[in-house]
Amino acid sequence: MQVVSTREELREMHEDWRHHGNHVAIVPTMGNLHEGHLSLVELARQHAERVVVTVFVNPTQFGEGEDFDEYPRTLKRDTQRLKKLDADVLFTPDVDTVYPFGIDKATVVSVPGLTRNFCGASRPGHFDGVTTVVARLFALVRPDVAVFGQKDYQQQLVIRHMTVDLSLPIRIITAPTVREADGLAMSSRNQYLSEAERAVAPRLHASLQAIGTELQDGKRNFAELENSAWAKIEAAGFTPDYVAIRRAENLEPPDRDCDEIVVLAAAHLGKARLIDNIVVSI
Ligand code: PAJ
Repeated sequence: MQVVSTREELREMHEDWRHHGNHVAIVPTMGNLHEGHLSLVELARQHAERVVVTVFVNPTQFGEGEDFDEYPRTLKRDTQRLKKLDADVLFTPDVDTVYPFGIDKATVVSVPGLTRNFCGASRPGHFDGVTTVVARLFALVRPDVAVFGQKDYQQQLVIRHMTVDLSLPIRIITAPTVREADGLAMSSRNQYLSEAERAVAPRLHASLQAIGTELQDGKRNFAELENSAWAKIEAAGFTPDYVAIRRAENLEPPDRDCDEIVVLAAAHLGKARLIDNIVVSI
């Protein structure tokens, strides 16, 4: 595996790969890799001859008072893990490579509509930072395929929208959420949980699953289901941010005969803000 951090190195490699007719997959990450990230790399392998994993803690997607400074940076361990997985390239650009004119003068890519609610409402500017950096990583790496996790459901929808809207010739693949044995979705932010909070954390997923069961049993009282899940996670010690039952394809409120539903939630637990979702066919 090659570790590169400049545009020039990427360009040279790219020319060589194109010359050999190889397809390229990208797996964008902010590092501190866990099994969830690694599953994305394995999936990417199945879709392209060359896999580029990017590790870049993107400053523009963190809001005031969020955890940009304390976000875990574990590049040495990440590199070792990726080597074992047979990734071709680890791309670790610095801020100047990604934002050559500086952050204040950067071109911003913004997807309205889909980013208005949920994480977009709780974290103003967050998705502009995500689409702005992902568009840049796409331009730098020039992939044929890009893999994102279902764990960040709204994020992968926003990126799909951007890719179609800008006619980017990149196929977006969404990979299933990898969970701990007790159901907690793996996340770098789980490290912020105390032992007691960690024991409570799986309740978030459990409450989504409970809604899933009710939906599959034919219940369609969406607001009631949301409210009762909210009350349950609040009673467990979380401070809920949102619990929502929406159409899986566009996050709009479902009508009674919608057949693909996503149940999304975000909640604070101690220092951590946890998000999770499940997709339910009804
Ligand atoms: P990060 O949080 O590092 O996540 C990188 C990718 O891993 C995302 O596509 C995310 O959805 C996926 N992922 C995280 N936890 C997962 C899990 N438990 N199972 C499966 N996939 C999981 O998301 C970002 O970084 C950034 O916003 C990024 C897209 C890199 C732009 O900066």
